[in-house]
Amino acid sequence: MRVSLEQAVASLRQGDVAVLPTETVYGLAGDATNPYAIARIFEVKRRPADNPLICHFPSIHAIFPYVKNIPEQTSLLMEALCPGPISFMLELPEASPLFFATCGSRQVIVRIPDHPVFLMALEALQVPLAAPSANTSGRLSPTHADMVEADLGAAGIAVVDGGACRVGLESTIVDARKKGLIRILRPGAVGKQELQELLPGVVVQDGPADATVPGSRYRHYAPATPVYCISKNDLDKLETGSLLILVDEQLQDLPGNTSAEHWRSLHLFSLGRLADPEDLARNFYRRLSDMDRLQKDAAFIVFPDFGKSSLEKALSDRLRRIVTLKD
Ligand code: TXA
Ligand code: MG
Repeated sequence: MRVSLEQAVASLRQGDVAVLPTETVYGLAGDATNPYAIARIFEVKRRPADNPLICHFPSIHAIFPYVKNIPEQTSLLMEALCPGPISFMLELPEASPLFFATCGSRQVIVRIPDHPVFLMALEALQVPLAAPSANTSGRLSPTHADMVEADLGAAGIAVVDGGACRVGLESTIVDARKKGLIRILRPGAVGKQELQELLPGVVVQDGPADATVPGSRYRHYAPATPVYCISKNDLDKLETGSLLILVDEQLQDLPGNTSAEHWRSLHLFSLGRLADPEDLARNFYRRLSDMDRLQKDAAFIVFPDFGKSSLEKALSDRLRRIVTLKD
């Protein structure tokens, strides 16, 4: 159900939820201090009850009253990068109205989104908004209002249409509380190099995910169609009509052992051009949801060789998460 920003703000004020656009993905927002709103978010998303929610604020100034402190390093990064596609782990005081949003954890993840609609809602409400991506738990994050409706539509949720999300992948999450160290907990558009340039001399870790890292405990970002990785040299073994996801560059680099006839028999589906990572990121979830609509039993992918920029690393991370590992 499409609504105006004004209607969404009225719903949110009453403790209901509403879907708002951000520059990364659409968020299913609710008053972060209201246990009923938080319960509703978990219910609508069918999200596991111990998976905490990011809390959104309109400014650094607005975060202060809710957290124990903002350590100097975090503060410097916030000054430079907010509003923007990055979230920060901070500590809550002993008593906090945000414990429902954090599922009882003393750690909270905060974000100042760079989207006028979301910022206007925050300014109007004067409370932080908890907002996970506006998808059923385990499904693709929505980057367009119609993707939200296709997924959550039956739930009669209010959606403010803000067009396509500018970035298209979820925010980078960092823990910069410890002096001299920044841990990237979830890769996103803001990456190691940018952080390093802002704080020279500080170690930036973007190492492998462990169970404490957001998004690593639950299967995320998955399409309904299982996607299997396949080696380039095994493409000739795909059955006629098989769905093959690729990037445009792979079409120019076809393996020699696959006949033109076999190629023509496959259902090819492009995610875009490796040479244009911004476009790849912006349309990543949308194209995967289009792929889902083909309703095939399976899809195959030759994992593309992404570059090393922050966005390319984030794309590689998200793509790895959608690939179904064979037992
Ligand atoms: O770009 C984004 O960050 C979007 C937009 C809507 O702001 N939000 C988003 O939220 O991606 P969500 O819930 O889909 O992903 C947040 C991740 C989850 O994996 C969650 O487990 C983790 O962050 N997380 C949130 N709060 C946490 C906390 N207090 N401690 C540990 N992990 C946390
Ligand atoms: Mg999510």
